[in-house]
Amino acid sequence: MRPELVGKSCFVLLILILTCQSVLAYKNSYLRQRKPCKHFELYYHEVLFNGTDAANATSAKATNQTTLGNFKFGMLVVFDNPMTEDNNFLSHPVARAQGFYFYNKKDDYNAWYALTLVFNSTQHKGTINMMGADLMAEESRDLSVVGGTGDFFMTRGIATFQTDTFEGAKYFRLKIDVKLYECH
Ligand SMILES: *[C@@H]1O[C@H](CO)[C@@H](O)[C@H](O)[C@H]1NC(C)=O
Ligand SMILES: *[C@@H]1O[C@H](CO)[C@@H](O)[C@H](O)[C@H]1NC(C)=O
Ligand SMILES: *[C@@H]1O[C@H](CO)[C@@H](O)[C@H](O)[C@H]1NC(C)=O
Ligand SMILES: *[C@@H]1O[C@H](CO)[C@@H](O)[C@H](O)[C@H]1NC(C)=O
Repeated sequence: MRPELVGKSCFVLLILILTCQSVLAYKNSYLRQRKPCKHFELYYHEVLFNGTDAANATSAKATNQTTLGNFKFGMLVVFDNPMTEDNNFLSHPVARAQGFYFYNKKDDYNAWYALTLVFNSTQHKGTINMMGADLMAEESRDLSVVGGTGDFFMTRGIATFQTDTFEGAKYFRLKIDVKLYECH
């Protein structure tokens, strides 16, 4: 082999090794990100106002459903619901879930949610904002955590909704599993 050819081959080999190393480093940091920096589970309780139970209700229909389909298409519900650590309706709330959802599927129940978990306790102060489709037919639904304030400054992650109990229009409970992948 001519000396200049050997030099070139060595150079190519070096580039190859460096590329491999940076690909591995990228993969490692990618894997690290997949492990949440905060992970907790809370229960969401919703009592829908029926016209007379103002003392107990925490949510109300704000627009009526349309006549498109039979799945409440267009109905918008505004809520300020308690969030508890266990599934007991009477447990002390650790946060409020404030926001709204509307039904948006013609041939099945399906909602779109935008809500803020408001924490105002000695343990946690701040908010977590989440939004996304609640595909009610699925056993568990992933919504995006799009930001936060206070103890949850600039956070992002995934909120997994599971229906824990459903008692018709008057009460339902969701288990919300929150995984945060960015904590500051
Ligand atoms: C609303 O709910 C309350 C408590 O469950 C019940 O006592 C009341 O009769 C209900 N009102 C209507 C109009 O259904
Ligand atoms: C709401 O919509 C339903 C179904 O379209 C209808 O039966 C009901 O009368 C409406 N209620 C009001 C207050 O408009
Ligand atoms: C948070 O809690 C404090 C102390 O109980 C209270 O003074 C304050 O008004 C609360 N803030 C909100 C936004 O609820
Ligand atoms: C409030 O609603 C919850 C959930 O439906 C129910 O268990 C509870 O008995 C209600 N309380 C009153 C005072 O109506």
